[in-house]
Amino acid sequence: MNNYLVKPDIERYCSDMTSEEPELLKELIETTNREMDYPIKLSGKQVGRTLKLLTAISQARTVLEIGMFTGYSALSMAEGLPEDGKVVCCESNPRAIEFAKRFFDRSPHGKKIEVHFGQALNTIATLKQSFDIVFIDADKRNYFNYLKATLPLVNDGGLIIIDNALWQGQVIDPQDDKDRAIDDMNRFIHESDTLENCFLSVRDGLNVVRKLSSI
Ligand SMILES: C[S@@+](CC[C@H](N)C(=O)[O-])C[C@H]1O[C@@H](n2cnc3c(N)ncnc32)[C@H](O)[C@@H]1O
Repeated sequence: MNNYLVKPDIERYCSDMTSEEPELLKELIETTNREMDYPIKLSGKQVGRTLKLLTAISQARTVLEIGMFTGYSALSMAEGLPEDGKVVCCESNPRAIEFAKRFFDRSPHGKKIEVHFGQALNTIATLKQSFDIVFIDADKRNYFNYLKATLPLVNDGGLIIIDNALWQGQVIDPQDDKDRAIDDMNRFIHESDTLENCFLSVRDGLNVVRKLSSI
């Protein structure tokens, strides 16, 4: 099974017509496929280039990532940040962290990335700073919890970007707690007076949300 909801040839065309990612990120994909279990977790070119573009055009300086895996999306967002920008990453898999750090050490943007090992909700509770972007991409049953925990940390006008917001279409007819957590979160966003969003059908769904004012 793959995460693509549109026809593979259309998906391939969109990918071909999108700016290339740096060679190091291509190598990161190949090495993840070779060395890691469940390489499908890696977001990939369409999501990665979207994240880089949104980071750059929003002139973000601080990013919080929930679910880093092998570092593809973290490096993509770091690429869109200024030299003194920062990506704070939450990750619970020590093997993924060790893998990602090998690539961060080789990237001109790696020094912008700070990794926190542990359960993301625990890490979030310790954070004192605010963020221009929060990217949610960890365990699906906690998606709504991640949104609720991070909203107070997002600067006014800042973005919350949520990957797998379509959950392979499961949100249309939720059956289990993961489906429901994502659907509940999407509905909360849609009904909120203090958030605006655009739900993009990129890959497995990318919900791009802007915080209008403090909640
Ligand atoms: C879909 S992958 C992230 C992919 C990555 N953002 C990318 O684009 O390549 C989800 C990651 O979240 C991590 N994760 C799952 N549950 C977590 C938790 N409760 N706290 C922190 N990390 C968690 C997993 O170990 C996994 O590496």
